[in-house]
Amino acid sequence: MRHLLSVEQLTHADIRQMLDRVAGFKQRRKTHARPLEGQTWAMIFAKSSTRTRVSFEVGIHELGGRPLFLNAADIQLGRGEPIQDTARVLGRMVHGAIIRTYAQRDVEEFARHAGIPTINALTDEEHPCQILTDLFTYEEKRGPIAGRTVAFFGDAACNVATSWLFAAGRLDFALRLAAPPEFQPDPELVRRSGARVVLTEDPRAAACDADLLYTDVWVSMGKEAEETRRLRTLSPYQLNDAVVKCARPDALVMHCLPAYRGKEIDGATFDAHAATVFDQAENRLHTQKAILDWLVRG
Ligand code: CP
Ligand code: NVA
Repeated sequence: MRHLLSVEQLTHADIRQMLDRVAGFKQRRKTHARPLEGQTWAMIFAKSSTRTRVSFEVGIHELGGRPLFLNAADIQLGRGEPIQDTARVLGRMVHGAIIRTYAQRDVEEFARHAGIPTINALTDEEHPCQILTDLFTYEEKRGPIAGRTVAFFGDAACNVATSWLFAAGRLDFALRLAAPPEFQPDPELVRRSGARVVLTEDPRAAACDADLLYTDVWVSMGKEAEETRRLRTLSPYQLNDAVVKCARPDALVMHCLPAYRGKEIDGATFDAHAATVFDQAENRLHTQKAILDWLVRG
């Protein structure tokens, strides 16, 4: 049985198989196959979401299935029922599960006990669905990402950056992470990724001749208590015009959203690249369908 729990667990072939189906779902939105006909998929969310929730709810519906949204606080899980019991029960009632939560091990434990395909819709450790969309969006606009250079600015230890790290190892592009020392990734993750990575404290050096500039929020969900320190420490890593000027003239600027203008990205840079960023957001829908299709049809 297939799951999508992390980019780390995917092979190059897995990623390519998913990416290769996204354009078909995008171009034939009204007429594509409905591989979830008759199925119900549970969506257990312990954190806020706009894009991931809506793209999965609409995507499951358009694939012929029924999404069942469960706020983690509203089900017994929120009152301490063990994950493995929740997984065993849902595994007897629904056909797949999509989980957004804190600890990666909780998603892994759910998948182990439920016996149904399980998707990580964001944990503290990884955000695989986002990075698959980002890879598709880059290649849709610029062709193969292999051999290109991606530069990430800000909290390079966050879930989105970690998924970029593992993607770089699988798809053979160079990754530069511009972050202060305390927000650089765990060296063990860098080693495990097998990626060509440059860690730097200099945002302009990271951007130099890069093909894609990327940032994410400075205060990820669950890190609110660290807000003051994060805003202070990360402020030199804003994605702004001075950084963009160092990149290749045709470089793309992407943001997984939500964006906080004036913090991780300045307002003018966001506006100048809004067309790309909202194409990227739209592509969440088409990519979720490709992920679901890959899980159920192989
Ligand atoms: N990018 C992303 O995952 O957005 P949401 O938190 O709105 O789902
Ligand atoms: N790193 C962010 C991503 C939001 C989509 C967070 O975890 O809040």
